[in-house]
Amino acid sequence: MKKIIDMISKELADGFAGAGYDPSYGKVTLSNRPDLCEYQCNGAMAGAKTYKKAPFMIAEDVAGRIKDRPCFEEVSVVKPGFINLKLNKEYIADYLNKMGEDPALGLDPVENPKMILVDYGGPNVAKPLHVGHLRSAIIGESIKRIARKMGHKVLGDIHLGDWGYQMGLIITELKKRQPQLPYFQEDFQGEYPEEAPFTIGELEEIYPTASQKAKEDEAYREEALHATYLLQNGHRGYRAVWNHIMAVSVSDLKKNYEKLHVEFDLWKGESDAQAYIPDMIERLKAEGYAHEDQGALVIDVQEESDTKEVPPCMIQKSDGASLYGTTDLATLVQREEDYHPDQVIYLADKRQDLHFLQVFRAAKKTGIVPKETELVFLGFGTMNGKDGKPFKTREGGVMRLENLIAEINGEMMKKIMDNRTVEEEDARKTAETVGLAAIKYGDLSNQAAKDYIFDVDRFTSFEGNTGPYILYTIVRIKSILNKYREEGNALDSLTILPADSDCEKALMLETVKYNEVLEAASEELAPHKICAYIYDLANAFNRFYHETKILTEEQEEKKQSYLGLLKLVKEVLEACIDVLAFEAPERM
Ligand code: ARG
Repeated sequence: MKKIIDMISKELADGFAGAGYDPSYGKVTLSNRPDLCEYQCNGAMAGAKTYKKAPFMIAEDVAGRIKDRPCFEEVSVVKPGFINLKLNKEYIADYLNKMGEDPALGLDPVENPKMILVDYGGPNVAKPLHVGHLRSAIIGESIKRIARKMGHKVLGDIHLGDWGYQMGLIITELKKRQPQLPYFQEDFQGEYPEEAPFTIGELEEIYPTASQKAKEDEAYREEALHATYLLQNGHRGYRAVWNHIMAVSVSDLKKNYEKLHVEFDLWKGESDAQAYIPDMIERLKAEGYAHEDQGALVIDVQEESDTKEVPPCMIQKSDGASLYGTTDLATLVQREEDYHPDQVIYLADKRQDLHFLQVFRAAKKTGIVPKETELVFLGFGTMNGKDGKPFKTREGGVMRLENLIAEINGEMMKKIMDNRTVEEEDARKTAETVGLAAIKYGDLSNQAAKDYIFDVDRFTSFEGNTGPYILYTIVRIKSILNKYREEGNALDSLTILPADSDCEKALMLETVKYNEVLEAASEELAPHKICAYIYDLANAFNRFYHETKILTEEQEEKKQSYLGLLKLVKEVLEACIDVLAFEAPERM
């Protein structure tokens, strides 16, 4: 369905054209004086200079031409030349009824769907997930779902950190502890055991231990580096240990991401890029893109328009080892071969922006990706504690994701039990559902690039701009709809009638914005716009709910219209939280 704002912009454009002005002045925006009007057009002021005419006169010309158009209830001109607009109530009701009949709620798929690859999550194998990975997963999942909803073809890739030094560390530590294992016998020819020589719990202890030792002991560090080198160059036993690490970690990661409602289509990682590195480096050297610099191999990425120095992208260290940039470039080679994406969106901490700038420029310059491929880095800010410093445990350590989730769920549980609408056993499940919404909404309602404060009290509150408030609103609507159904009524084909109160009209005006908001969120990669929208929509609904007798409305047609509107509002809210990747319980 056409967006409301486009339809009224078209009316205004026609009005300007009809009165002899350039139609591009007919741009309509939401009103910034909601007390006076619903939408407004400021084109007359913009055109005044061109036409050497008072803006008020231009506005009057245009208003005179459009005031009888069926979509407007009121068109008024206010000095110096604002055109203030109020929409016709029948027109809105008609739009809402059409939205209700459309399974996509009025959202048209994009005309030219793109193949989009979203690189997010980015956990490092064998290290526990911590809050830093949370943002990547939450924002990335939402970006992926929004793009998919718009009709793009989207693949989400977890891009595991599964090939670096941390692997060498684990192998080294394991070898010290259990030197008798066949993986470490250089002359071992047989089949390696199928069972991993560690559990996930042990793995999570082995890694930090090894990492600590390497920091304190240079010889240990050398050994781990050498183990990394051997692994990357095909050492059979180490490769077998690596396979175990992968199997154990990945199954644990899957469980964790599932709890977060984060679903990856691809479970690829840095290791998958390895096979593409030698040929890539050969080509880049042969074609003169890469040159030696103090023993290392680099690609220059400085551009003339740069005001700051952009250091070259390093693709090989002097000892022959690959780097983060090498892996990301080789991954692009692989992605180009396998998926030929129109757009690749990367989610990582915004402090990685130089890395991505270098990689993107190197990839374009060397033809690893075609010029028209959009490479986008969506860098996110830090999640801080109430003290404004990066979120830590009470003891000052890095907060593990599961502990953070447990903390939120515990708080949610308390609040839900206080409410006493749910039995204790159901309450636990509900606390998990609402807790997840609290975390995700708390994150997504901020612009991704900004740092934000993780505030358990605020995030779990049922009031204010929070996930639980949104869910509470949905639950409230569900319960009204259920009561209506229990009275023996059907919920389909309820006709929405023109609003007869301000609060009803306000609710309707919010509801019709759904397609516009989703489109903007998709184009701007801005899930926070959806959060802002559902907060406004929930507020509009709650005001309507408090001012209106819904189920006790005596006029049958009116009552049906209210329920039709409620059903649509619920569907819109649910569609929105679905792309934010959380859901509402039945009760709370
Ligand atoms: N594993 C990396 C980290 O923990 C994030 C990976 C981001 N994606 C990428 N293609 N570099 O920081």
